[in-house]
Amino acid sequence: MLLKAVQEARKHAYAPYSNFRVGAAVLTEKGNIYSGVNVENASYGLTICAERAAIFAAVAAEGNDMKIRALAVFNQSEAPCAPCGACRQVILEFGPQARVFYKGPDGLKEAGITELLPEGFRL
Ligand code: THU
Repeated sequence: MLLKAVQEARKHAYAPYSNFRVGAAVLTEKGNIYSGVNVENASYGLTICAERAAIFAAVAAEGNDMKIRALAVFNQSEAPCAPCGACRQVILEFGPQARVFYKGPDGLKEAGITELLPEGFRL
């Protein structure tokens, strides 16, 4: 289900500058799935990653107690695409127990967010 959501979403990625099209999907503790894509901008720094787009859609839909059970992220052409550091921090915020699925340099990977981001920032 999560994978299917990523496959559908990533067709909608807006990546005219990098041509690196990414889709992500979040499975929440409530059992809902929300997807997101990377959305780039001519002012490059305004780009948002697919993972954060999916997480923000989940918060908008479920409210501020939204918790991530799992997140999957995949590039359109199946190129390796581990979540960037900024997205790891945002995943941690909403899912300290989250399982993350992505393609690493050696193939499909599953990892806990605290393995991907040891000692992430918490207030
Ligand atoms: N990107 C993501 O959407 N997620 C990641 O985890 C890594 C990078 C996007 C941002 C940009 O639009 C493109 O990939 C190339 O960096």
